[in-house]
Amino acid sequence: MADAQIGGSGERPAEVSASPADETISAGAPAEVGVRFEVDGEIATVTLCRPERRNAQTPAMWSALARFGEHLPEQVRIVVVRGEGPSFSAGLDLSLLTGAPGQRSFSEIAALDDAALDRLIAEFQRGFLWLRRPEIVSIAAVQGHAIGAGFQLALACDLRIAAEDAKFCMKEPALGLVPDLTGTKPLVELVGLPRAIEMCLTARAVDAAEAERYGLAERVVPAGDLDRAVNELVTSLLAIDRHAAAATKRLLLGARHRTLEEQAAAERSEQMVRLRTLFASLAPQGSVGAGN
Ligand code: ACO
Repeated sequence: MADAQIGGSGERPAEVSASPADETISAGAPAEVGVRFEVDGEIATVTLCRPERRNAQTPAMWSALARFGEHLPEQVRIVVVRGEGPSFSAGLDLSLLTGAPGQRSFSEIAALDDAALDRLIAEFQRGFLWLRRPEIVSIAAVQGHAIGAGFQLALACDLRIAAEDAKFCMKEPALGLVPDLTGTKPLVELVGLPRAIEMCLTARAVDAAEAERYGLAERVVPAGDLDRAVNELVTSLLAIDRHAAAATKRLLLGARHRTLEEQAAAERSEQMVRLRTLFASLAPQGSVGAGN
């Protein structure tokens, strides 16, 4: 298993399932919804495990993802998202368009009133939003196709390492839909508005080299090196103090919404906490806050 190769505590990884019926995540059997969760010390791994369906995604999978995010153990600092088999994820399970056993079809979903439909899509989005939390760094390890919801899952992560055979495609508009799994904002921020419009409204596939050029992938490696490249990145990330990392990520996440002055103030505020934490106990008695 990938996470067995990713450094960590050396303890046996805990396997965690989050079936749609569960209220809490529980250790034990692998999830039946096509996604597996493992926690190994500071590293969690989310593995889409329907390779025979190219890791096509379902609402049950998104619920499981949301629940895993909600119950993520506090010690976790890194979340690696990966897919088994030749594709990272072929996106939405297309059988949902017509109706699949145990799943609501899109025609049933479309019949909901506005408030219920809004709540339902918000529920789907919860599976993706937690991956940006300041306390963690999320990494998508992308091989083969990342289409539609698959592309958006990769975009939901902070960082993307791509294999040379990776292909990213925002297919939703070609199906008459919009990308609604939180992918549009990171896409625009990464590639810029004109490129995002071009990619989405042609629904074309962007290969790994192009993705790296546009900033969609931090690194592109030969397919056989994907796990190793992710492991190296994880090791580098874990070498930084967890509180400094979280505070810095908070600053970086907030930067684009703030003015320069506001960002400078945010830097001061975060740094005060760091300075007090690191050095206050060493300061001469009465010197901290003496100016107040
Ligand atoms: N939903 C359901 N089943 C799928 C999906 C999907 N999104 N993608 C692939 N599968 C199934 C195939 O039907 C096939 O099943 P079968 O073995 O019973 O025939 C199996 O997975 C393997 O698929 P292949 O097409 O044979 O695999 P290949 O590696 O040649 O191609 C590719 C992979 C390019 C991903 C292709 O399967 C494909 O184009 N899939 C559809 C992609 C798509 O349109 N997704 C929706 C995006 S929009 C959104 O996410 C909202």
